Amino acid sequence: MQIRLDKYLADMGIGTRSEVKQYIRRKQVQVNGDTAADAGRKVDTDRDQVSFQGNEIPYAEKEYYLFYKPQGCVSAVTDGRHKTVLDYITGSRRKDLFPVGRLDMDTEGLLLITNDGALSHRLLSPACHVPKVYYARVSGEVTGEDAAHFWEGVDIGDEEPTLPARLTVLPRHGGGNGSAGEDAQVTEIELTITEGRFHQVKRMFAAVGKKVLYLKRISMGSLVLDESLEPGGYRPLTEQEVEDLYAPTDWRIP
Ligand code: URA
Repeated sequence: MQIRLDKYLADMGIGTRSEVKQYIRRKQVQVNGDTAADAGRKVDTDRDQVSFQGNEIPYAEKEYYLFYKPQGCVSAVTDGRHKTVLDYITGSRRKDLFPVGRLDMDTEGLLLITNDGALSHRLLSPACHVPKVYYARVSGEVTGEDAAHFWEGVDIGDEEPTLPARLTVLPRHGGGNGSAGEDAQVTEIELTITEGRFHQVKRMFAAVGKKVLYLKRISMGSLVLDESLEPGGYRPLTEQEVEDLYAPTDWRIP
């Protein structure tokens, strides 16, 4: 791709376009080893080697990060009051990243962070029905009746009931982590939904008289939360993971 030199450096977060022009005037920018004199000259993002203050600056057109969102931050690019998910992505070159969709402040788990608008559109489009899998701890006993209800569709106060969702009650197990094994009044579940309505999981359980106590997203389409990540951690997607997200897929819940 051919782009202006000042845009190239601004895209890579070196500075604003006018700051970059100043760096060029001060002879701090080289293209293929020669000092650049013209901010408007075209460079080839694949072939030309651009350096700033002696450091090579490779061009990254699209960036993709798998982020383990912790509780207590907002799924936004900026926020006047709270830490945002982007505050955690400190090693990126692009300055135009955004989260694909939202998780509530108290929800944790998988969030894709990218600057790829086309992919975001594809994953969030209601027509695509991309499945999202959540793990939750829910107050009370979640029953087979609830599962049947979720599969039929739940009235959560919107114009339309929810689309079929797969609710699985996880087996009880012992353990000292405050999970279901210790407390008969808490059920661990996995829920797959193919929509992204506001507070959807919490509202679905509220509709059957239960409260979500803890919520974590495990996957979105083919992308699965990396258990080796800690909350607040992130890693770049592999090329294969990006390809899989773009692959034409029948996302219907089996
Ligand atoms: N459903 C919710 O209720 N909250 C989330 O953060 C995601 C899905």
